[in-house]
Formats: sequence, C-alpha cells, structure tokens
Amino acid sequence: MTNTILVTGGAGFIGSNFVLDWVKAGLGTVINLDKLTYAGNLENLSAIAEHPDHLFIQGDIGDRALIAKLLAEHKPRAVINFAAESHVDRSIHGPEDFIQTNVVGTFNLLEEVRAYWNSLVEANPEIKNNPPFRFLHVSTDEVYGTLGPQDPAFTETTQYAPNSPYSASKAASDHLVRAYHHTYGLPVLTTNCSNNYGPYHFPEKLIPLCLLNALNGKPLPIYGDGQQIRDWLFVKDHCSAIRRVLEAGKLGETYNVGGWNEKANLDVINTLCQILNELQPRTDGKGYEEQITFVEDRPGHDRRYAIDATKLERELGWKPAETFETGIRKTVAWYLQNQQWVHNVTSGEYRNWVNKQYSGSVA
Ligand code: NAD
Ligand code: DAU
Repeated sequence: MTNTILVTGGAGFIGSNFVLDWVKAGLGTVINLDKLTYAGNLENLSAIAEHPDHLFIQGDIGDRALIAKLLAEHKPRAVINFAAESHVDRSIHGPEDFIQTNVVGTFNLLEEVRAYWNSLVEANPEIKNNPPFRFLHVSTDEVYGTLGPQDPAFTETTQYAPNSPYSASKAASDHLVRAYHHTYGLPVLTTNCSNNYGPYHFPEKLIPLCLLNALNGKPLPIYGDGQQIRDWLFVKDHCSAIRRVLEAGKLGETYNVGGWNEKANLDVINTLCQILNELQPRTDGKGYEEQITFVEDRPGHDRRYAIDATKLERELGWKPAETFETGIRKTVAWYLQNQQWVHNVTSGEYRNWVNKQYSGSVA
C-alpha cells in the first residue's frame, strides 16, 4: 500500500479544488482520472501541472481495463469518486449520459475496485479487520428529494426520494456503493453534500452563471418565483469534509455535509449583486439587480433542500471555515481576478448550451 490516492473527476469543479488542496498540502500523490467532458478543464489544474505528486490520466470510470491497470500500477490507499454528470438541467434535456456515467460508470468502477480489494485481502487476510484502503463516493443532498417549508433538514436516515434524472442516477450509484459494502465487504464511505460554490465553478450553475452575466450586461435568469431554497457550502469546506471522512469516517456509513446556509435563490442573487455593486460597479451607476429576469421554471424543480450535518460535526469534529457571506465574497473576487479562465470556459460549446437552455433569451 502506498500513500497514493486515485481521484476520479478531478478536473471538474469540486474535484479540481480537492486535488489542488491535497497536492499543495503535501498529503501524497494523486492519480487524477478524468474523461474531460465539457465540465472537465485541465486549466483548473495548471498550478500543479508539473508537480511530481500529480499524475493526470484522461479516461472514463467505465473503462474497466484502464481502472484495473491504474489500481495495479499505483496501489492507491483510497479511491475518491467525484466523476459524474452533475447538472440537473442537462439531465432534463438528455438523461442518457447521466445513466451511463453515474450508474453504469460507477458500477464498472466498483467492480474493479472490488477486484483490487480482494487481491489485497488475498495477500494479507488480516487487513479485513482494519482496512488500509477505502472507496469514498461523493454524492449529493438531491437524492433525498424535496422539503416543505417546515420540514426538518435531511439527515443520513432520511428516505431517498430523487426527483430529477440527475438525482435518480446519483441515488442509484449510492445504492450500489452501499450494496458493495454489505454484500462484498468493500470498505466504503459516502458523503451527501449540499450546493457548492467557489473557484472553478462551471458557469452553467446558478452562481457563476449570474456572476458572469451580470458583468456582461446580460439578464440574470431566475427560475419561477426564485423562492426555491438551497443550502450553500463553500467548495473548500466540502473538500475539508471529504478529507475528514476519508481519515476518520466509519466504514459503510454515510455523512451529510452542509454549512447551515439555507437561502432562497433570489436572495443569493441579490447578495451577489450587492457585492458586485461594491467591487465592480456598473458604469451607468445602476445596480446589477436591475438585470434580474424571471424565466420559465425548471420542470420538477425541487422546492427546498437543507442538510443536517450534525453527525459529521459531532462524530468527526468537522466544521466549515466559511459562512455564506465570506465565501461568496471570496468567490466573486476569484472570478474578477481570473478573467482568462472565464474567457476560455465561456467560448465554444458553452454558448450552445446557454442558447438551448434559455432559448436565446439570456445570450
Ligand atoms: P463537474 O460537472 O464540475 O465535474 C465532473 C467531472 O467529472 C468533470 O471533470 C468531468 O470531465 C468528469 N467526468 C464526467 N464523466 C466522467 C467519466 N465517465 N469518467 C471520468 N470522468 C468523468 O461536477 P462537480 O460539481 O465538481 O461535482 C463533483 C461530484 O460532486 C459529483 O459526483 C456531484 O454529483 C457531486 N456533488 C456536487 C455538488 C455541487 O454543488 N456541485 C454538490 C454535492 C455533490
Ligand atoms: O444540491 C446539490 C446539487 O447542487 C448538486 O448535486 C448538483 O451537482 C449541483 O449542480 C447543484 O444542483 P442545483 O440544481 O441545485 O444547482 P443549480 O446551480 O443548477 O441551481 C441552483 C438553484 O438555482 C436551483 O434551484 C435552480 C436555480 N436556477 C438555476 C439556474 C442554472 C435558476 O433559478 N436559474 C438558473 O439559470
């Protein structure tokens, strides 16, 4: 066993933040496997492109021969599965990729990880009592479905009730991970996190989309009445929670991750506009709020998510470092300082998506 970890989806938003933090902190070598779909971006990793502790491999989690080879060659002490199709709106337009990657891909990955784990146990049966290897599956609060205004927040025992093709595919993958623990004894951990925001967030999602549209003088599209509630967590806090669960989580358990930051979408965008008004005021003296535009609602739109992170806090002593107010300020500052990254991700295919999703009204 080495001090190497295999990360999947490490060129995406959360995965790249995780890999950057891991390598910069000197925690060991990362084998970073990513298919580089539209959401994967090697530019996110440019700070560690030449780093000896980072090896990037372009490939699919469903490619069993490749996974087997990587596991045999690098003998990682952990596999952390971020790879997924992650955007709810895209899953509504076309669910197939979500089934392929999130369900079939996770299944194929699990099969190869199971074979790897069996080979470790065969070589040393004692490790079953205190596994030196673990598979951590990164999941979402969306698997729990939607909450009413007075409902308590999701806990780890809340029944799964996914409502979109995206969340259904994530729920399916969570069930597979659970089953591989119960049936085959695979040492697994699952985290279910709320909405992330922060650096390297692809601008198809609410916060970066509105941030960039604001600066470009375009409408800020709010679905329906804008009163849907999400529970926001700064991406670096999600990464620290994953590190903590990896280090100290109880095998076979799931951990909810969230920052107790429930906010209505309209409030989030108003806060964003206020920070922009302060940091980069419009030249006409008006506020960015003027650009808010209500558009057609998302089909099947979940009304409210809220995460109860008590278990993670009590059992593993994890706490987020940022509040929404500090995290969103850092996020706006990052986007203002990284205009080249913004320019590069918003050219090409991205424009086609925006035109398709907003019927040209936001372009
Ligand atoms: P993202 O879409 O930004 O990144 C996904 C990455 O996975 C991309 O780099 C993409 O190229 C890669 N990928 C896609 N299919 C692949 C495949 N078949 N094989 C290998 N790589 C593949 O997503 P994200 O927002 O960073 O989310 C990462 C994980 O965290 C996902 O599993 C998501 O469900 C989960 N999650 C996200 C949030 C959030 O708010 N973004 C919250 C909770 C959980
Ligand atoms: O809850 C965790 C989930 O958060 C993750 O599992 C997903 O991978 C991630 O994409 C995110 O899903 P959401 O659907 O909540 O994120 P999104 O940014 O797409 O939307 C946030 C809210 O804002 C949601 O209520 C829909 C709304 N919205 C979104 C867009 C893109 C708008 O009102 N207008 C928009 O243009």
